[in-house]
Amino acid sequence: MSVLCKNELLPWIPLISALGFLLLLRHLICLTRWRGLNLILVSRSRDKLEQLSEELLATNERLRVRILALDLDGDISGGVREIGEMAKDLDVGVLINNVGVICLNARFFHEVEEELWRSLVRVNIEGMVSFTRAVLPAMLRRGRGAVVNIGSGGAVVLPSIPLSAMYASTKAFVDQFSRSLHVEYRHHGIHVQCQIPLYIATKMVSMVIKIDKPSIFVPSPEDYTEAAIRQIGYEARRMPYWSHSVQWFFARLVPVSLLDFWILNRALKRRARSPPTFSGLTDRAVQGIVAG
Ligand SMILES: NC(=O)c1ccc[n+]([C@@H]2O[C@H](COP(=O)([O-])OP(=O)(O)OC[C@H]3O[C@@H](n4cnc5c(N)ncnc54)[C@H](OP(=O)(O)O)[C@@H]3O)[C@@H](O)[C@H]2O)c1
Repeated sequence: MSVLCKNELLPWIPLISALGFLLLLRHLICLTRWRGLNLILVSRSRDKLEQLSEELLATNERLRVRILALDLDGDISGGVREIGEMAKDLDVGVLINNVGVICLNARFFHEVEEELWRSLVRVNIEGMVSFTRAVLPAMLRRGRGAVVNIGSGGAVVLPSIPLSAMYASTKAFVDQFSRSLHVEYRHHGIHVQCQIPLYIATKMVSMVIKIDKPSIFVPSPEDYTEAAIRQIGYEARRMPYWSHSVQWFFARLVPVSLLDFWILNRALKRRARSPPTFSGLTDRAVQGIVAG
């Protein structure tokens, strides 16, 4: 909370670009229970947005909530224009770009359907870039604001993520984009940050690696978001959760070739559990990769 106060972010209007950070919202609302807070919620399901909006209003009658249903995997130009218009009228303080998708199955790049890899680019990159572009002019006019983009340890901590190359690469974009904007805009009162999570016990992780219970190294979304909020306003790249930082520290000590080998073998095991219908790679060729 002190970080937010220090940066005078609290009185501003956060614009949250995903329901995934619902818990973050609850925390924000707890922190700001004594003040009015205005939110623009953007996600793809209107029903979920309406339900969330009602739930939030029930916790704090001083809230003002606007919702915008937008599928980032489709044509977002109209929605982005609408956000730009809203940003002109409202004092948009914090944009949190949290929406993200991942390929559920481990695949060599040539096995990934075109529609799927294009979808990763649209949702993980174009959505974040478009929202950021839409709110920056208003933030610049007011000389204050913050943009928080959610990256991934897969692009920063690990030297590679074979068989998930597109996901890792889109998150590498998020990291570099945020750090570059941080330098571009810090003298104009706008703080841009990339937050780097490792595993968090969310729906995404439960679908990909079947972790569904929090543990010391895989925090619950509640614990993670509480830490994440407190980090807004610090460096351009931040790893908010303490046990993730411990893992990052030890990962740095492991030779890159060993990490590559370990990650590749885990990915090949995941691929074997749900093999692609078409590959062009024989089982023998894949076994050769494991052995090599
Ligand atoms: N969980 C982890 O371990 C982990 C690790 C590293 C990085 N991250 C990053 O953290 C962020 C949040 O991930 P999460 O674990 O909370 O994932 P999640 O549980 O799958 O939530 C993702 C959110 O994105 C929304 N979304 C997905 N596709 C969308 C689309 N086409 N249009 C609009 N909204 C869409 C989802 O909406 P619905 O509710 O409608 O599905 C959901 O609200 C992502 O950027 C992810 O890459 C997560």
